[in-house]
Amino acid sequence: MLKIAIILGSTRPGRNGEAVAKWVTEIANKRSDATFELVDIADYNLPLLDEPVPASMGQYSKPHTIAWSDKIASFDGYVFVTPEYNHATSGALKNAIDFLYHEWKDKAAGFVGYGGSGGARAIENLRLIVGELHIADVRAQVGLSLMTDFENFSIFKPAAYQEQAVNTMLDQVIAWSGALKTLR
Ligand SMILES: Cc1cc2nc3c(=O)[nH]c(=O)nc-3n(C[C@H](O)[C@H](O)[C@H](O)COP(=O)(O)O)c2cc1C
Repeated sequence: MLKIAIILGSTRPGRNGEAVAKWVTEIANKRSDATFELVDIADYNLPLLDEPVPASMGQYSKPHTIAWSDKIASFDGYVFVTPEYNHATSGALKNAIDFLYHEWKDKAAGFVGYGGSGGARAIENLRLIVGELHIADVRAQVGLSLMTDFENFSIFKPAAYQEQAVNTMLDQVIAWSGALKTLR
């Protein structure tokens, strides 16, 4: 069975990302074509990148890097749940991505963004980043608006149609995750 991580890319106290990532995981868990796990980068307590050797060399020296590597290596594909901070993804998610290299390679990814414009610019930013890591990013994406999918910008109440958007994105992530397994 394919294993897909739903990566919660925000670490801010009071973050909206937690409700969004839990909602994505609940929708995903209704499916039977893969298994899903919510991975909260906050649980890994990653400092700003402190490995002396670039991740592409695969020489990790810190326990937090090894724990993060083991977790990310165990999946066939990823769903990045990203906030939009200053027209980009979060620094915390970029930092967590930068810690690793081979663990990401030849796997698929989809995106769930949220923000004033549905996190669209954060997702575009992530598409550039994941391309460098040989992650195949699917076309379908989920954009949650702070104005229409949240109350008072903080209470998550997604519009009904967003569940279908999640499943369309997951259809593509699962198809490509399976296809890329043959390459790995
Ligand atoms: C530092 C910072 C920068 C932000 N910049 C943007 C932005 O450029 N565009 C946007 O639509 N929303 C922006 N926002 C609003 C966030 O998308 C919104 O607060 C979201 O809930 C943040 O995710 P989080 O609650 O999981 O941390 C910004 C928020 C913060 C804290």
